[in-house]
Amino acid sequence: MTDSNATTAGRSAASAREPAVRLEGLSKTYPGGQARAVDALSLDVQDGEVFTLLGPSGCGKTTTLRMVAGLEVPDEGDIHFGGREIVVSSKRLRLPPDKRDVGMVFQSYAIWPHMTVEENIAFPLATRHVKRSEMRERVAHALDLVNLPGLQKRPAPLLSGGQQQRVALARALVIEPKVLLLDEPFSNLDAKLREQMRVELKLLQKRLNIAILFVTHDQIEALSLSGRIALMDLGVVQQQGPPQLLYEEPANEFVRDFIGKTALLRGEVTSGNPSGQVAVAVHGGADCVIFGRSYDPDGLAAGQEVFIAIRPEDIDVRPAENGGVPAGAIGGVVSAALFTGERVEYQVEAEGQGTLQVFGERHAPASEGSMVCLTPRPDGHSVWSSNWTRAPDDEGA
Ligand SMILES: Nc1ncnc2c1ncn2[C@@H]1O[C@H](COP(=O)(O)OP(=O)(O)O)[C@@H](O)[C@H]1O
Ligand SMILES: [Mg+2]
Repeated sequence: MTDSNATTAGRSAASAREPAVRLEGLSKTYPGGQARAVDALSLDVQDGEVFTLLGPSGCGKTTTLRMVAGLEVPDEGDIHFGGREIVVSSKRLRLPPDKRDVGMVFQSYAIWPHMTVEENIAFPLATRHVKRSEMRERVAHALDLVNLPGLQKRPAPLLSGGQQQRVALARALVIEPKVLLLDEPFSNLDAKLREQMRVELKLLQKRLNIAILFVTHDQIEALSLSGRIALMDLGVVQQQGPPQLLYEEPANEFVRDFIGKTALLRGEVTSGNPSGQVAVAVHGGADCVIFGRSYDPDGLAAGQEVFIAIRPEDIDVRPAENGGVPAGAIGGVVSAALFTGERVEYQVEAEGQGTLQVFGERHAPASEGSMVCLTPRPDGHSVWSSNWTRAPDDEGA
């Protein structure tokens, strides 16, 4: 369906500049709710972008998506699609769901069991009074898009879980939405199928070039699918940006600990500069000095005790030769070694550090009880002062 509202030249020019979705200051408290389910959320989604809302259960992801779809009314805030007013709270303006041109897929398949695949997918077209011949064509096209060609007459109950979710996706796509909302669409599928759907969605996204607002609590899904991510906690966006930014430059401890695994090394600042770059001498290591960035608003001074947050894959682990630990490394004893297929996950009692979790190459395994050398990558880490804990109401950077 084309945007029949963008008729005037001025309006088309405006929508060419505007993001596909703009959310500004969206807030929502449920009746009887203690706290805001969503608190002053703002973000933009561009055409052709997958933007992911990531966060633990109950952080407000579904509520946000439902406000965008028109299934929930925000207390405050505005929603625009390509410059078009969808919700303007101060004017009490709210377009009904069927006037928003959004496709939505939920976690539970929500396809109708008493209908065939074709009837399911055609349903939103029927409510829009599309002609029968056009309907048939568009259903066939939608089925092609989700890799289920020719399945029109199959009764819905005879579909596998993966097929049902594809039908739900086809039903969302058949109206040719500008905006696709996906709420944990793959979380009911098994791990293999989930991976496959992830790849297919990425390919589909490239073909359709629409804006996708994707919700998941699964960080792998978020990191691998998204152009940008907003990581939420307690209704508040903690950080938003490209996956790599959240992974490599977490804005606060919540982000650091939610995305990926981190080993926290203890050390002492040897020098710092106003840009936040600091050099840290790692405890227990001989001449082991590494570099990282601090986001502490108060800055870090030489001599201060700190934590360096390091991704486990950024610490090289190898068996100690003749029990010796070279300069730049930390010695340790392997207390547990878990072979996971692609790598070995070690728990190491490290000199001056205590227990660390690190990942080693499967080609050079170390056995439990043996001595290992741990060599952290020299730079690119985040540094945290050991007495800086985020206040519960601190929204972070
Ligand atoms: N219909 C509702 N009525 C009251 N509280 C709700 C309702 N839906 C969600 N909540 C609450 O709002 C918060 C956010 O929920 P939700 O948006 O579903 O989170 P998520 O999708 O991230 O798991 C939670 O504390 C949840 O309990
Ligand atoms: Mg949810």
